[in-house]
Amino acid sequence: MLDEKIAQYAQEIEQFTPQSQEDVEAFRLRFLVAKGVIRDLFDAFKSVSPEQKRSLGKSLNELKQAAELKYRTIQEQFAAIAAVHKRDIEDLTLPGEGFVMGSRHPLALVRKEIVEIFRKLGFVVAEGPEIEDDWHNFTALNFPPEHPARDMQDTFFIKKQEGNDIALRTHTSSVQVRMMENGQPPFRAIMPGRVYRNEAISARAHCFFHQVEGLYIDENVSFADLKQTLYYFVQELFGEDTKVRFRPSYFPFTEPSAEMDISCTICKGAGCTLCKKTGWVEILGCGMVDPNVLENCNIDSRKYSGFAFGMGIERITNLKYEIKDLRLFSENDVRFLSQFETELI
Ligand code: PHE
Repeated sequence: MLDEKIAQYAQEIEQFTPQSQEDVEAFRLRFLVAKGVIRDLFDAFKSVSPEQKRSLGKSLNELKQAAELKYRTIQEQFAAIAAVHKRDIEDLTLPGEGFVMGSRHPLALVRKEIVEIFRKLGFVVAEGPEIEDDWHNFTALNFPPEHPARDMQDTFFIKKQEGNDIALRTHTSSVQVRMMENGQPPFRAIMPGRVYRNEAISARAHCFFHQVEGLYIDENVSFADLKQTLYYFVQELFGEDTKVRFRPSYFPFTEPSAEMDISCTICKGAGCTLCKKTGWVEILGCGMVDPNVLENCNIDSRKYSGFAFGMGIERITNLKYEIKDLRLFSENDVRFLSQFETELI
């Protein structure tokens, strides 16, 4: 009987977690005063048999000490909390607690910079869905049915659908199609956004990355306009002494097409590991919009012409900040991200 009671109270004491000063006082009255339950046990103890006295006496004393210890600990905790509150209120001149500011992600910083430069030239920002159909991502952009970019290796398909598969967009050119379908020229817009390609993740490739593409359609737009626009962009972003060069290339949706290189931002053309000793680094693809694309979007290709370009924000960021591993952008390691804290613009 007595030993059961001792065990029961011991458990109660151990589990006691007060919410208020009243709870603490209730604990004291229950366990620690002359009319408390532990005192009752001591009274009952007087009439147990001598054989039982040894072991029961020990656990009864332990119970009493546990109750006293618990009470002391709790009182100390409450006193410490009260002291903090008192100090807060009493001394209003104490300095406030500092808080850690977040910072912009390097990709967001660079995207913002790119957007600002094109905004000065009159380009607006256009956005579109990341889940696209085959028409907007490929067919309208003049991709032949057997083009390798449609291959399972590059594209994440979501749903196979007769003639119009649903997939994650592989570039933001799809936004250009949507824009042209839904309006009439002139168009002058850039399309920032996330794109997806089915690639093994490494320092140099990822299954998603970010692009800024651009589109300018009007009467009499020429390749000279394309060159001058992109030249201006590069000088604004990387500095006036940056050189550009265009190399012929191929994209289904532009004709003629080119890839644009800039003089290496690290060695200024002298040759280093970044530019593989060539003095040049590629930063974007561009070209005159193929008349087939204009016609696919119900735009008169005899009246209108235009140029388009597309670049990876990661690549530009790597050049600007000399970042060598693409995975850093999506790991969210604060040691990496906090290096951009001063760049709050
Ligand atoms: N869409 C191309 C890509 O993702 C880039 C590009 C856009 C090239 C416009 C030319 C013109 O690689």
